Amino acid sequence: MKIRPAISLPTAAAYALIGAIVLAVAGLFALVGGWIGTPRVSGSTVSDALEYNAGHHPGYRRAHAKGLCISGVFEANGAGVELSRASIFKPGSYPVAGRFSIAGGNPLAGDGRNVFHSMALILRTPDGQQWRTGMDHTEIFPVADVESFVGLQRASRPDPATGKPDPARMKAFLADHPEVRAFQQYMQAHPLPDAFTDGPYYSINAFRFTNAQGMARYVRWAMLPEDQTVALDKKALGDLPKDAVFDRSLARLAQGPVRWHLVVTIAEPGDVTDKATAMWPAGRRTVDVGTLIIDKALPEAAGNCRDMVFDPTILPPGMAPSADPLLAARAAAYSSSFTRRAGEGARSSLSTAAKEF
Ligand code: HEM
Repeated sequence: MKIRPAISLPTAAAYALIGAIVLAVAGLFALVGGWIGTPRVSGSTVSDALEYNAGHHPGYRRAHAKGLCISGVFEANGAGVELSRASIFKPGSYPVAGRFSIAGGNPLAGDGRNVFHSMALILRTPDGQQWRTGMDHTEIFPVADVESFVGLQRASRPDPATGKPDPARMKAFLADHPEVRAFQQYMQAHPLPDAFTDGPYYSINAFRFTNAQGMARYVRWAMLPEDQTVALDKKALGDLPKDAVFDRSLARLAQGPVRWHLVVTIAEPGDVTDKATAMWPAGRRTVDVGTLIIDKALPEAAGNCRDMVFDPTILPPGMAPSADPLLAARAAAYSSSFTRRAGEGARSSLSTAAKEF
């Protein structure tokens, strides 16, 4: 009698193939979910760390909580077309909405702190493209990855007794993260602007621009002010009136529109494009692609910038994130911060100070 196998050979091969596919899909889920491979830090973990550092302030942004909405136009001069096929670089005038802010999660903090002064923007073109960007007044960032960002928030939490970080924790963090030294030296050597209206703002992260001919280049960009930067006295920051930086900015805007040049710096082969802690050497080619004109400061209210999310990975065709891991981390963190504050009833800082000019 002939014994037939329970499963014919072609059927066994099919089962093996199905098994392999199931395993591959499960592996992919595990990888994406962060259960295997490099440990991931979620946006929610970042929000927790920011709240641990600055306290819980329901309804406000978890970072850069103290801010002011702004609006104006970007006048493209056409020079950017060489670098990117994004419509924003075609000659023309495009509406801009955004926000000035000071770093930190406490919306009631005084302005006398040697921390980031920032500009966030959404630039729109009539064909529906959007470019969202969040920039700080420094060219580099203290840390290069999100694990270190979370560690920094934990280590630098002000001790309620002294108002200063625990020196032992900070010392241990700095010993593990020597890259922070470059940022500390940068902050010492560069001015802290006395207003948002006279400060420069930098993308810090690198991005990849591709032009209509398909040529791709790594770039960073900067908004360089036409107003002369006036530096605050860093030794007397404690004496600064609580809202001094905001008040000076509003007073300047009351005198008329404020202008910045959007200057794109092009990387050369070998320049580090995936680390926000690394400066590019001086002398890189730059292209002035147009002028940002801010003429309004608006209350931070619904319909203005209160509910905007300045996720730096929301980019028009012709611009793409670099491999800098901070970019994906920022996208996740800004989204988590927005979800939390929206769920708490989003609140506005300094809503009475702003007015339309
Ligand atoms: C290249 C480095 C960075 C720059 C230039 C930058 C810039 C900014 C700016 C300008 C804002 C204010 C946005 C606004 O006015 O709504 C902001 C907010 C924020 N940043 Fe960053 N940031 C950087 C890195 C990071 C990193 C690494 C994280 C954490 C992973 C982070 C977390 C946040 C969060 C949670 C907010 C509040 C977002 C919201 O609720 O809308 N940032 N950042």
